[in-house]
Amino acid sequence: MPLPKAELHLHIEGTLEPELAFALAARNGVRLPYADTEELRTAYLFDDLQSFLDLYYALMAVLRTEQDFEELADAYLARAAAQGVRHAEIFFDPQAHTARGVPIGTVVEGLGRALDRSEEKHGISTQLIMCFLRDESAESALETLEAAKPYLHRISAVGLDSAEVGHPPVKFREVYEAAGALGLRKVAHAGEEGPPAYIREALEVLGVERIDHGLRCMEDPELVERLVADRVPLTLCPLSNVRLRAIDTLEEHPLRAMMDAGLLCTVNSDDPAYFGGYVGDTFHAVHEALGLEREQLRTLARNSFEAAFLDHDEERRAR
Ligand code: HPA
Ligand code: ZN
Repeated sequence: MPLPKAELHLHIEGTLEPELAFALAARNGVRLPYADTEELRTAYLFDDLQSFLDLYYALMAVLRTEQDFEELADAYLARAAAQGVRHAEIFFDPQAHTARGVPIGTVVEGLGRALDRSEEKHGISTQLIMCFLRDESAESALETLEAAKPYLHRISAVGLDSAEVGHPPVKFREVYEAAGALGLRKVAHAGEEGPPAYIREALEVLGVERIDHGLRCMEDPELVERLVADRVPLTLCPLSNVRLRAIDTLEEHPLRAMMDAGLLCTVNSDDPAYFGGYVGDTFHAVHEALGLEREQLRTLARNSFEAAFLDHDEERRAR
C-alpha cells in the first residue's frame, strides 16, 4: 500500500503524457513536430528550466477544449490515486492558454469537471492554484486576476512560476496584494534557479505561506533558521531538480540535509510527464538514492498534510 499523501506542487500542464498529447493533437487537428511518442520522449533532455519551458509551452498547443482539460486532469488524478495521493493542490497557467486564444473559462471549467468528480471517482480532494507567468508583465498578471473573477469559487490560491532568474517576486507585489484582498491564499516558486534573496522576497513582499522548490535556501543559513522557526513549508521536487540540472544526480540532492536542518519539507512531482515519475515514484526514488527510511518517508507524507490548505476536519479525512 502506498503511503497516503498530499501533492502540493503539480502543474497540470506538466501531466500531459506523449500518448495523450498525440491523441489530442489528432482530435484538434494540431500538427506536432514529432513523428510519434517515442520521438517526443527523446526530446525530453533538458539543460535547464528554460529549455524545458520551451517544449512545455509548445506542447500545450494540443489543449483547446473543456473536454481536453477535463481528460488531462482526470488522467492525472487516476495516476495520483494509484500512488497514494489523497489530496492534490493543482497549479494551472492561465496565461499559457489565453495567449493561444483559449479563454480562462475553458481551462477552469474543463479542469473543474474532472475535479468535481475526483473525491468520488479517485478518492482525492482537490484545490486549484492559479499561477502567474513571471516572465510576463505585472500588468498581464493583473489582467489575468481580473479575468479569473467569475471563477474564484473554484480557485484557492495564486502562485508564480515559469522562468525565475531576472523576474524577482517584487515584480508581482500589486497582483499578490489584490489576490489577498480577494481572499486567495498565496504561494510562489522561489529558489529553484533563482537566489535565496527571492525566497526572502516572496515571504516578505508577497506574503506567501509556502515556498515552491526553495532548494537554494541552503546557501543562506540565516534564511534556513527563519524557515525552520516559522515552519514555512517547502514543496520540493527532487526528480525535477535532476532533470532541469539544478543538481547533477539524485544522490546529491540536499533533501536529507534539509530535513535534518528541521525544514518542513514535502516531496512532489512538479511536471511528472516530463521528469520521469509521479509522486509515489518520487518517494521511491529518494528512498533508493538517499537511503531515506520508512520513518522519514512517513514524515514527508505527514508534512504534506500539514502544509496543505486543508482545515483540521478535512486534513483528518484525507490522511
Ligand atoms: N519552475 C517554474 N515554472 C514551471 C515549472 C518549474 O519547475 N514547472 C512548470 N512551470
Ligand atoms: Zn513547479
